[in-house]
Amino acid sequence: MDKIDIFDTTLRDGEQSPGAAMNVEQKYEIALQLEKLGVNVIEAGFPVSSPQQFEGCKLISERIRGVTVAALCRSVKKDIDLAAESIKAAAQPRIHTFLSTSPIHMDYKLKKKPDEVYEMAVEAVKYARNLCAEVEFSPEDATRTEMDFLCRIVEAVIEAGATVVNIPDTVGYTVPEEFHAMISEIRQRVPNIDKAKLSVHCHNDLGLGVANTIAAIQAGARQAEVTINGIGERAGNASLEELVMALNVRKDALPYATSIDTTHLYNTSRLLSRIIGFPIARNKAIVGENAFAHEAGIHQDGVLKYRQTYEIMTPQTVGRTDSKIVLGRHSGLHGYSKRLEDLGITLSENELKHTYERFLQIADRKKEVFDEDVFAIVSDELGRHLSTLTLEYFNIISGNTAIPTATVRITDGETTYEEASTGDGPVDAIFRAIEKAVGIETILEEYNVQAVTPGKQAVGEVSVIIRIEDRRFSGTGSSTDVLEASARAYVSALAQYTRLREAQSE
Ligand code: KIV
Ligand code: ZN
Repeated sequence: MDKIDIFDTTLRDGEQSPGAAMNVEQKYEIALQLEKLGVNVIEAGFPVSSPQQFEGCKLISERIRGVTVAALCRSVKKDIDLAAESIKAAAQPRIHTFLSTSPIHMDYKLKKKPDEVYEMAVEAVKYARNLCAEVEFSPEDATRTEMDFLCRIVEAVIEAGATVVNIPDTVGYTVPEEFHAMISEIRQRVPNIDKAKLSVHCHNDLGLGVANTIAAIQAGARQAEVTINGIGERAGNASLEELVMALNVRKDALPYATSIDTTHLYNTSRLLSRIIGFPIARNKAIVGENAFAHEAGIHQDGVLKYRQTYEIMTPQTVGRTDSKIVLGRHSGLHGYSKRLEDLGITLSENELKHTYERFLQIADRKKEVFDEDVFAIVSDELGRHLSTLTLEYFNIISGNTAIPTATVRITDGETTYEEASTGDGPVDAIFRAIEKAVGIETILEEYNVQAVTPGKQAVGEVSVIIRIEDRRFSGTGSSTDVLEASARAYVSALAQYTRLREAQSE
C-alpha cells in the first residue's frame, strides 16, 4: 500500500483557533502524545509571531526526537532565519515557508504582481535550503489560484530546492472532484513534480476538509496536513482522527497506509480537549461521546445479535473501551494504575499518587467510576498540579430566596488569598470571589458544562474561556459537584494567564 505521511499542525494551525492558545509546557505535552500516536511531522509553531511560539518550537525540537519538527514562516529572510533558529536542535528539522498566489490575495493582501511573488517564493526557498535540508513550500490560497501560475510556481520552487510542496485549500472552498482534478493536473503539468513530496492542507469551511484530503490522496498527494479534533482557523482543518480512520476502515476502497497507532486516537483527542478547554461535540465522528452509542431499540437489538450490524469499527480500535463499570471506592492503587495502563495513560509516581487521591474522593461520592470519569479525573488533576494557583476550598450559600454568596480560598505557592462575593447565581458568585481573591479582572466568554458519564452522580466537566487584556485563556475542571468543577475550571484558566505572565517577566 502507498504510504501517506501525517503532518500534524495542531500546534500551529490548530492553535490559531480562537481560544485555543497553549503555553509552551502544554504544547510539549501534546507533542509527546503526537509522537506516541505516530505522526510523521509535527508543525510546532510560527516562531516570528511571538516569543512563546519560538520557545515552543525550540523545546519540541530539543526533546522530541523520533518525528520531523517543522516551523512555519512567511517568505521573508527575517522569518526564515527565526524559523531555522527555532528548530536547529531537531533530529529532523523542516522549514515550512508560504506565500499567497491567488489573485485576490496578491492584489489585496500582498499588493504584489505575480512576477514579484514568483521571485519571492524562489528566493525564499533557496535561502531556506541553505539553512535546512528539508524545505516545504505552500502557495497560500492555492485553490483560488490560476492553474498556469500555480504550476509555474510549483515547478520553480522545486527547482529552487523545495523537498515538499503543499497545496492548501486555505479558505475551505474546493470540493472533492475539483480538488482531485487539480492535484492530477499539477502532477501532469509540472515536469519535476517527482522531485518533491506532494502534500495537501484542507480547511473545513464547507465541512469538506477530510473529503477533499481523501480526494487529493487518490489523485497522488502523499502527505496530509491535519489537526486533532479538526481544530484550526475558523471552522478548522481536516481532522486527523477522521482521515486516519477512513483510511483504516475502508482499506478496500482506499489502499493507503499511515504510521498512526489508532489505539491512541481517543486519548490524544481527550488530552487536547482538556488542555485547550474545548469540549468535544457528542456526535463528533470517532471521538465524540455518542460515536459508539446505540440508542434506538432496533439498533441495540442488532448490535447485541451481531455487532457489525451497526458498527463499522470497534471502539477498541480507537482506544476506547466498552465503557463498562471499571472501578469503585474499594479499588486499590494497584487496580487503579492497571486501569490507567489499559487506557494508555502513563503517569509519573507523583502524578499517580495525586490522581489516585482525587479518584478516591470521587469514588466516595459515586458508586461506579467509569473510564470517562477516570479520564476527567486525570486531566483535571494533572492540569491542577502543573499550576501554582490552587483552589483550597470554596463555600457557597444559595437558594431561590437567598442572594448567592461565595467564599473561596486560593493559594499561589506560599501566598494565600481569601475573598467573598455575591453574584447573580452561585457560579457567578464563585467566579467573582475568585477574581477578587487573585486581583485579576477577567471577562467570561464561554462557560460549558457536560456530564461525562450517565446517572445522577455523574462527573461533570466544566470548561471556560476567559479574556484578560485582549488574550483568551481556557480552563477545565471536573467534579461530581458542578459548582466545584466550575471553580476548578476558572482557577485553571487563571493559572494559564499567571504562567504566561511569569514567563513573560522572566
Ligand atoms: O491554510 C493555509 O493556507 C495555511 C498555510 C500556511 C499552509 O495554513
Ligand atoms: Zn491552514
